[in-house]
Amino acid sequence: MKILAIETSCDETAIAIIEVPTPRLKVRGRDPDRSVGTKGTLKNPQFKVLSNITLSQAKLHAKYGGVFPTLAKREHSKNLVPVLKEALKQAEIFQPTTNNQQPTTKRKIEKILEREPELLEQFLEFIPKIKPAKIDLIAVTYGPGLEPALWVGINFAKALSEIWNIPVIPVNHMEGHIASILPLQNGRIFNFQFSIFKKITFPAVALLISGGHTELVLVRKWGDYKILGQTRDDAVGEVYDKVARMLNLPYPGGPEISRLAQKSRNSKTINYQLSTTNFPRPMIDSPDLDFSFSGLKTAVLYHLQKQPAKTLRQKQEIAREFEDAVAEVLIAKTKKALEKTNAKTLIIAGGVSANKFLREEFQKKFGQRVDVLIPPFGLSTDNALMIAMAGYLKIANNKKEKKFRIKAEGNLTFN
Ligand code: KG4
Ligand code: ZN
Repeated sequence: MKILAIETSCDETAIAIIEVPTPRLKVRGRDPDRSVGTKGTLKNPQFKVLSNITLSQAKLHAKYGGVFPTLAKREHSKNLVPVLKEALKQAEIFQPTTNNQQPTTKRKIEKILEREPELLEQFLEFIPKIKPAKIDLIAVTYGPGLEPALWVGINFAKALSEIWNIPVIPVNHMEGHIASILPLQNGRIFNFQFSIFKKITFPAVALLISGGHTELVLVRKWGDYKILGQTRDDAVGEVYDKVARMLNLPYPGGPEISRLAQKSRNSKTINYQLSTTNFPRPMIDSPDLDFSFSGLKTAVLYHLQKQPAKTLRQKQEIAREFEDAVAEVLIAKTKKALEKTNAKTLIIAGGVSANKFLREEFQKKFGQRVDVLIPPFGLSTDNALMIAMAGYLKIANNKKEKKFRIKAEGNLTFN
């Protein structure tokens, strides 16, 4: 069966289509197409990535120094139909038709998309021009994230569901990040060919580090999650972005800081021992598994007020010291979480897991003891492929279709 996934929780408009084995699932309207299903079993599923399209709005938000929710919503409305077209084409299930008739459910569609006039207009223009796509299920992110942005994706999913007469299931964005390690095969995503879901030994600990979250999650099995600890204030990605702003670096700040920090590490002229930059490692020794990063951010701010970073080298050193502080805290807390839970697997996911230095440090520190799983580079930051996979895990676990009433939940958590 084919799953189409939609992700609009922040500033990426993303759609992916995957093919997976068909679970025993009652689908409203029509049976999922079993003839084309992949061969694997539910326990050992084979899947095929048919398409994976991500359109980032980061450049547009850059001038605000962060994501501007109304702009994100407007951009999703504008981009979803073109991204869908691209995804269907890439999956080779785009079939134009000259029929050009408005859907019989036009009224319903107008109601579903009444808050997204631009999307409605494009939708009613596009849909009559194509044959119904051979999709069996839609998975859509319903939280956590920016509610206005989430609603655009949800309403789009509902409109497609109406037109194609297929069900929609809601997916937790953070579960998506956890599932982003599934297509891990030698660190690459094998697009357009069959692949086996990465095998995981449970229990696993997942360190989720993104622009909105910093949390340690116990994964007892797929679908069974418990938050062990989380940030009490800022998320790691958020602090990367804010420190980047203090250093006059563009948004998103994570990759920029990381680049500068690496330059400092590679530079032979900087003597670490003589470094005057020294930032705190907040809560590193606290017995719990919580984090706090706002103190680190303030420390960078105070440092810059006293000693503005005038040269590139000064910026590089601040970036390195900041990143070292982040890495040390994340590693110390993760170590505690692994010890407390006796986990066999460590998953590191979310946008900040794209950070090369952190990837290497985690591998070095824990690689001998546990299986360290980090998503392929393209799947660290927000994407719809991870939502498709989390959607699949959900239906594979659920056996029967449940009636889901879907609404955006900006503050959705696991517990
Ligand atoms: O998961 P994500 O794409 O969106 C959220 O769900 O928040 O994470 C975005 C965050 C941003 O704060 C960005 O600065 C950070 O991930 N990020 C990085 C790197 N690439 C992205 N942080 C550190 N190093 C990177 N290479
Ligand atoms: Zn995310």
